Amino acid sequence: MVNDLLGRGLRDLRISVTDRCNFRCRYCMPVEVFGAGYAFMPREDLLSFEEIVTLTRELVPMGVEKIRLTGGEPLLRRGLEDLVAMLASIDGIKDIAITTNGVLLAHHAEALALAGLNRVTVSLDALDPTIFAQMNGVGAKVERVLAGISSAQTFGLPVKVNAVIQRGVNEKEVLPLAHWAKATGVDLRYIEYMDVGESNGWKLDQVVSGDEILAILAGEFPLVPRRPAYRGEVAAHWRHVAGEGEIGLIRSVTRPFCQDCQRLRLSADGKIFTCLFAAEGHDLRGLLRGELPATALAATVRSIWQARSDRYSEERGQVTRPKAEMSYLGG
Ligand code: GTP
Ligand code: 5AD
Ligand code: SF4
Ligand code: SF4
Repeated sequence: MVNDLLGRGLRDLRISVTDRCNFRCRYCMPVEVFGAGYAFMPREDLLSFEEIVTLTRELVPMGVEKIRLTGGEPLLRRGLEDLVAMLASIDGIKDIAITTNGVLLAHHAEALALAGLNRVTVSLDALDPTIFAQMNGVGAKVERVLAGISSAQTFGLPVKVNAVIQRGVNEKEVLPLAHWAKATGVDLRYIEYMDVGESNGWKLDQVVSGDEILAILAGEFPLVPRRPAYRGEVAAHWRHVAGEGEIGLIRSVTRPFCQDCQRLRLSADGKIFTCLFAAEGHDLRGLLRGELPATALAATVRSIWQARSDRYSEERGQVTRPKAEMSYLGG
C-alpha cells in the first residue's frame, strides 16, 4: 500500500483507451479546437492491452482495486471487450466500470457483460432531442443512447448516468432527467460544469451549482441525504422520500472532494496523471517498452504517488496553470 503527502491511498485507476471521440461536446471537445485538422494520438503511441494489463498488475499490491475505462470514447477502441476480460482476470481487481457516451453501447453491452464488466456509466445531458443534439456537437440522437442504456440493463449491467448541467444550455433538463431516471432505475448524478482543459472557455457564471440543482428538484421530489457508500465517493447522494431510487451531485466546483481523492489516471499513450487538472503526466510507456523488469514500474509509480499533493478543486481560483484536456487524460 502507498500513501501520498496528504495521507491518501491509491485505490482507483482510470484508464483512458483512446483520445478520440465520436461526439464533440462543447464543454469537452469543442469542434473549433477538435476539428478535422486536430492531431490525435498516432496508433503506435497507444498502449497495447498487454501493456495496460502489465501496469495494472503492478499497481494492485499498491492498493488499486477499482478500474474505470474512459476516453475520449472508450467504445471506439477496437476489441475493448478483450481488455475487460484481461483486466477481470487480475487477482485483486474488484470492480471494472466504463464511462461512455452510450451511442455505441447497444452493440457492445452483451459482450462487455460476458467479458466481466461490472457496471456502466453513461453521459446523458438532455432528453430533449434538440438540446441533446446541440450539446453533443455532432447531431447524435438521444434514442441511440437510451437504447444503449436499456441494452446494458438487459444484460444485467447496473447503469449510472452523468449529466453535466450548464447555465443557459440545459438547466431545463434537470427535472425531466430526474423523472426519467426514477422511472428507468438508473442512478442519476448531476455534475457541476468544470474548468477542465484549456478549450472549453469555462466561466464561473456558467456553472449551475449543486445547491441550485437541489432547489430545482425540491419542488417535485422530496429528498433526504444519505451517507457516502464508501470513502472518497465522488457524488453526494439523496434518496427519494417517495418510492425507490436516489440522485447524486458531483460538486467539484462548490464542494471539492480532493481530501479523499484516491484516483490515478492513465492516458492512452501511457502517461500517469495524479490529478484531473494536472498540467503534465509522467511517462510510463518508455519503461513498459524498455529493458527493465516490470517491478521498475511499481517503484516509479510508488515514488510519484508518495510525492503527490494535488488538490486543485480546493485551490481553484488561487492558482492558474495550463491543464491537459479531459479527452486526453481521461474523465
Ligand atoms: P463511481 O462512483 O465508482 O461510479 O465512479 P465515479 O463517480 O468516480 O466515476 P465517474 O466517471 O462516473 O465520475 C463522474 C464524474 O465526476 C467524472 O466524469 C468527472 O466529471 C467527475 N470526477 C471524477 N473523478 C474526479 C476527480 O478526481 N476530480 C474531479 N474534480 N472530478 C472528478
Ligand atoms: N465539466 C464537467 N464534466 C465534464 N465531463 C466532460 N467534460 C466536463 C466538464 N468540463 C464529463 C462528461 C462525462 C465524464 C467523463 O465527464 O460528461 O460524463
Ligand atoms: Fe466525448 Fe465524453 Fe468528451 Fe463528450 S464528454 S466529447 S462524449 S469524451
Ligand atoms: Fe482529485 Fe485533483 Fe479532482 Fe481534487 S481536483 S478530486 S485532487 S483529481
